[in-house]
Parts: sequence; structure tokens; C-alpha cells
Amino acid sequence: MSDTDLLDLPLVLLSNRGPVTFDRDASGRTVNRGAGGLVSALSGLAEHLDDAVWVCGAATEEDAVVAREAEGGSILVQTHPYPHVVEGEPDGPSIRVRMVVTDPAAYADFYSVWSNPILWFIQHGLYGRSLAPVLTKAEHDAFENGYAAVNRVYADAVADEVRARGGKALVLLQDYHFYLVAERVREQCPDVVLTHFVHIPWPGPDEWRVLPANIRERLLYGLLGSDVVGFHTRRYARNFVLCAAELLGLPTNLDDLTVTVGDRVVRARYYPISVDPAALDATLATEEVAAHVAMLRYVFLEGDRQLILRVDRTDPSKNVVRGFLAFGTLLDQHPELVGRVSFLALLQPSRTDVPEYADYIALIGAVVAEINARHTKEGRQPIDLRMVEDFPLAVAAYSICDVLMVNAIADGMNLVAKEVAVVNRRGGVLALSEMAGAHEELGEFAVTLHPFDVQQMADALYEALTMPMEERHRRLAAAAEQVRTHDVRRWLADQLADLRKIAGFS
Ligand code: G6P
Repeated sequence: MSDTDLLDLPLVLLSNRGPVTFDRDASGRTVNRGAGGLVSALSGLAEHLDDAVWVCGAATEEDAVVAREAEGGSILVQTHPYPHVVEGEPDGPSIRVRMVVTDPAAYADFYSVWSNPILWFIQHGLYGRSLAPVLTKAEHDAFENGYAAVNRVYADAVADEVRARGGKALVLLQDYHFYLVAERVREQCPDVVLTHFVHIPWPGPDEWRVLPANIRERLLYGLLGSDVVGFHTRRYARNFVLCAAELLGLPTNLDDLTVTVGDRVVRARYYPISVDPAALDATLATEEVAAHVAMLRYVFLEGDRQLILRVDRTDPSKNVVRGFLAFGTLLDQHPELVGRVSFLALLQPSRTDVPEYADYIALIGAVVAEINARHTKEGRQPIDLRMVEDFPLAVAAYSICDVLMVNAIADGMNLVAKEVAVVNRRGGVLALSEMAGAHEELGEFAVTLHPFDVQQMADALYEALTMPMEERHRRLAAAAEQVRTHDVRRWLADQLADLRKIAGFS
């Protein structure tokens, strides 16, 4: 990638999920690349730098074995033509990976109590507040012994890698798992150039008052250890600056989006993340996807039938239950659509060890059963709910759906909407929540959904299904153009170009 000359510093990355995971099957150890836009963008950067390391959590049992074998150090993984560990010099692109193993009980408090649900729920506005959250001694202990303790371990691993590179490096921290890392890395390595990218919404100060002052202040000061705090939209960046003003009383500038902390100026910035269109085009061209397309057409699109699609993790923020209620309302109010319109939901079970997530799956099952019972016609059920994580199947469905439903209560960006814009070949209409970050870029080409208004969503689905074909194709082409010209490489290149200025390299 041509961005590599933008910074002349070694690179240290940190994210909870890493670029590769190890497993074990009958043939021995296997290596798999992580999925998704973030991994492919950051891998693309790290692979082309001489001195880069990616610090991440050991996600599987085999990851922990690999980490122990490396005795706390890093391993070199060659990514092409197939992922494998190399001992000597790689003969293709490679990434140095340091997998961090933490105490399982501390990790459970870090991941399943504080990161998900507490931080995730506050930042997506999911608490009803009359009964939740309840912060007892258990949650306070989980913060100290889990979230803060795990953050210290990761911060020390990052600082270790920075010191190994002479104490000066570009450090890119990712997401809500690590709000306390930047401050601690800066304490140990004052010469770092540090950014923390928050991939989920950042709400205003009043939402953060759900947390007691000492905890919310520690989280904010932790993040303010960075030079740049990155978000997907201007609204989130502004909210962050407002939090620094109102919750910490720091001097801020809302026009420049800056916060002054002692003698340092911290910048809030926004860079909308995106997808890799070439990779999506390549996936769409595979035989596996073609076979899925043929099957889906046969099942859902014979004659003049139409298909609504959603592809999500089973996360309460995705608003799956209200989405189905809106579809049920649509069928109630437009009986002519019963038997003519299907709803395919490809849902990936997520964070099932968090009780709120497990309960949500049960609710989804119940609402689907009820609507299917009410609207089955000639043996055909209107909702086809599949609990799968199958990217080729998802891409096939993206390409032929009439409507994509994204009705999130809040969503940092939502890359499914961008993937559909690139891959759809049927004039598919984006039905997009005004609370998804993607709405800032794609809203003008979409039918907007209000995530709490079931009647409005039913009406919007009707509008999408009955939109003239020419208009559907016009909107889709404009959305595709927006995504293709603002891809994930640009997301990263824009950040690096800004950093170069901030760090005084140009
Ligand atoms: C969101 C977060 C990511 C996270 C992903 C999957 O996209 O921003 O940091 O990795 O969800 O969630 P999981 O808990 O499975 O890592």
C-alpha cells in the first residue's frame, strides 16, 4: 500500500480480535485469517511495513498455546499465499503478531461484564434505566480486577513493543475494550504518536453519567492519553469533546474538536470506515456464491416475488425484534404481500455468555414464530431465520435482495449496508436506520428507518418494495459510487495523512 511512506515510524497495533487465530484439527495446528474490513485494512498496512507488530488477545485455546510457546514475544505469520507461521525470512507478505494471554476470570470481567454489556450498552443507548444497569460491589470489583487489570496487561505489552523499537512508534489502538491503554502507554513511552479509534457510537455527557464519576473520569483520561481519538462520524467526535468539557471541566474547542490536557492538545477526528470493494467483487465472482445465488433465487424469487434481507449479529443494538414487528405490521396492513414477500434473516449468535444477549436470541425466536404462525400462506412461512455465520451465503443474498433492512438502535457505522451497496445487482433498496453511522453517507440514497417507530418502519418497507425499478437502480448506483470512492484504504490513508501533519512529519 502506498500509504506506508506516510509515516517513518515503526507501527504497533492493538485490538481485542487479532488478524489470525489458531485452531487444532486432525491434521494439527491450523491458522485462519480474521474476517472483516478492519482486519483486512490494518493487515494491508502492517504487511507492507518492515517493522510492525499487532498486539491482540489470545481468542482460542490454541492461540494461548501459541502465545505460551512464544514466551510472551511475537510470532511472524506469512499471510500469502496461505496463512502460516514462518521461523526465518518470509517469502511473502507477513505480519508480526503478539497474542496476549490474561487470567480467565479477569478476562471474563473485562469482556463479559464491562466491555459487553456495560460500555457497549451505554454507548448504544440500550439501557432502559428504570431497572438497569445496577452497579454493585461485583461490578466495581469487575472494573478494577477485570477491565482495568486487563487494560494494564495490554498497555504493558504495547509499551514493551514500543521500547523494543527504540521508544518511538506509531501506536494505533482499536475500540472500547481498551480505553485505559493510551494513558499508560504514554506514561511509559512519552515519545509515541498515539491514536485510539472508537468503532462504536460515542454518546453525549448525560449518557455517561450512568457511570459513577470516578469510573467515567478514568475512562476519559485514559483515552485522552492519545494524540488523536478517532470516530466514524462528526456527531460522535463532538460528543467526545462535550464529555471532556462537561465531565472533566477541561478546556475544549468545539469547532476544532480539540481538548487541552495539561500541555498537550488532543484531537477528536472522524473518518468513516468502509469496505474493500475489490475483495467483495472477487467473493461475488466465486462458484460458491453463484451456487448460493441459484438456490436463493429458486427459494425466494420465483415469479414476481420479493425478498427483504437482514444480516446481523444477534445484538440488542441491531433491533432485530422491532424489525420483525415492523414486517409483521406490513403484512397485516398489506395482505396482498402475504405469500409474495419473504424476509431472510442471517443472524450470527454473538456474545452468548452475556445474559442480555442470550435472552435476546430467545425473544427473536418468539417473535419470528408468532409472525410466521399468523402469516403462513400455502405452506410458505414469510420469515426464514437462519442462525449462521456464512460470508459467501451473505454475499449471495446481498446480491439479489430487493430490500436490505438495517434498523439499528445505534450502530457505529454498519458495514453490511456498504457491502450491499457494492454487491447488489437487483436495484436493492437500503432501508437504513437514521442511527447508523452509515446513514450520514448513504442516507440520501436510502429509505430512512426510525428504529423505535414500528409503524414508520412498516411504511418505509412498503415504500421500498413498491419503488419504481428505475429509481431503485438510480439510488443503488449512487450508493455504490459513494462506497467505491470512499473505501477502507481511504479510511486508513486519511488517518495517516492527518497523523503525519499532527506528528510534524509534513
Ligand atoms: C463490533 C466491535 C468490534 C468487535 C465486533 C464483534 O464490531 O466494534 O470490536 O470485535 O463487534 O464482537 P466480538 O465481541 O465478537 O468481538
